[in-house]
Amino acid sequence: MTFAVNINRIIGEIDAATGGTAACTRPSYGAADAKTREYFLEVFGELGLDVHVDGAGNIRAAMKGKEPGLAPVLVGSHIDTVRNGGRFDGLLGVVCALECLRIFKEQGHVPRRNVEIIIFAEEEGSNFGVTLLGSKLLTGKLSQAALKELVNDAGESADAVIRDYDKLQPGDVYAMVELHIEQGPILADLKIPVGVVENIAGMETFRVTLTGTSGHAGTTAMANRKDPMVGAAEVILCMQKAAEKADGGTAVATVGKLTARPGATNVIAREVEFFVDIRDTDEASIDGLAMSLAFFAETAAEKHGLVAEVSRISKSAAIKLDSDVIKTIDQVATGLGINAKHMNSGAVHDAGMMADIAKVGMIFVPSIGGLSHCPEEDTRPSDIEIGANVLLETVKRLAEGV
Ligand code: GLV
Ligand code: MN
Ligand code: MN
Repeated sequence: MTFAVNINRIIGEIDAATGGTAACTRPSYGAADAKTREYFLEVFGELGLDVHVDGAGNIRAAMKGKEPGLAPVLVGSHIDTVRNGGRFDGLLGVVCALECLRIFKEQGHVPRRNVEIIIFAEEEGSNFGVTLLGSKLLTGKLSQAALKELVNDAGESADAVIRDYDKLQPGDVYAMVELHIEQGPILADLKIPVGVVENIAGMETFRVTLTGTSGHAGTTAMANRKDPMVGAAEVILCMQKAAEKADGGTAVATVGKLTARPGATNVIAREVEFFVDIRDTDEASIDGLAMSLAFFAETAAEKHGLVAEVSRISKSAAIKLDSDVIKTIDQVATGLGINAKHMNSGAVHDAGMMADIAKVGMIFVPSIGGLSHCPEEDTRPSDIEIGANVLLETVKRLAEGV
């Protein structure tokens, strides 16, 4: 038997975990998320793994190594999704991690260090709006006090849902690897099956509220309006231009969520709330765009007689991944005769949050058409197979690490 993943089992596992649907909506701490968690907890139990779930919902499932006293190697990703997202973002990394441990077990391979599958809670900000919530809590980047500030659309406080979560210290984990779809077009365009991530972009999310005066859409003259929707439109367009012009050419700014209140076609809005997601691998550029956002909001407020409030609701630093793990992935790919490309990630990942407590690496597989965060998200099974085999050998080598 060759030491290689079983691609049919990986695809079958994705189908079993998603119910075979391409469109997935699994906000963390919701019913669909709970069902998928139950599925994996059962599978981990059947595999004889030692399972631990912390108070944030981070799941760790350990296979014992020859020297269980050593810090473990973690391999995994997340299972929550954005609303109407795809079936590979996050889930693929978990399923491939599971396949690695299945192969170890089937082949009687006992690693030197414990190897643990990790499923991070709420990677997508899918319930409480903060991306990487589970890994931020786990690595001390977010505190219980900060959870009091987080309230979901149903009015529940994160502080009420999340209690007694684990906190990792440097040295608690030896290394971590996450396999993930690229979520962009680079690998697919170049027809390269594996990406080796060097840097993960930093990200900051801001809530902007513009408050004006509500009124009748038919009787309020244009000159007499204090319309926050017009202000919001101006701020959004200014952010688009600012990100396009930012030095380095890698900055991006997005407004993907906007709410007008009271929200009727024939009522001038009283208040418009929207969220601005700013990212770059260069943190100074994010800071510059954040300052621009505050300036644009103030300018729009003055021009239209509004009150502007801008507050940062989440931040993750730009991360450089570990050169030893990158070297190991490179060597594995070369040994398997696989073409691999070094690249940066514009998406954020839990692996990035782990990088200040452990040696961390990431393996990307191509996304067809570069599509992600939508049901059209897809990756060819042949590419998944190649990426998963690189993951398998990488985990095997890291678990021997001294
Ligand atoms: C997570 O998917 C993110 O990059 O927003
Ligand atoms: Mn993801
Ligand atoms: Mn995602």
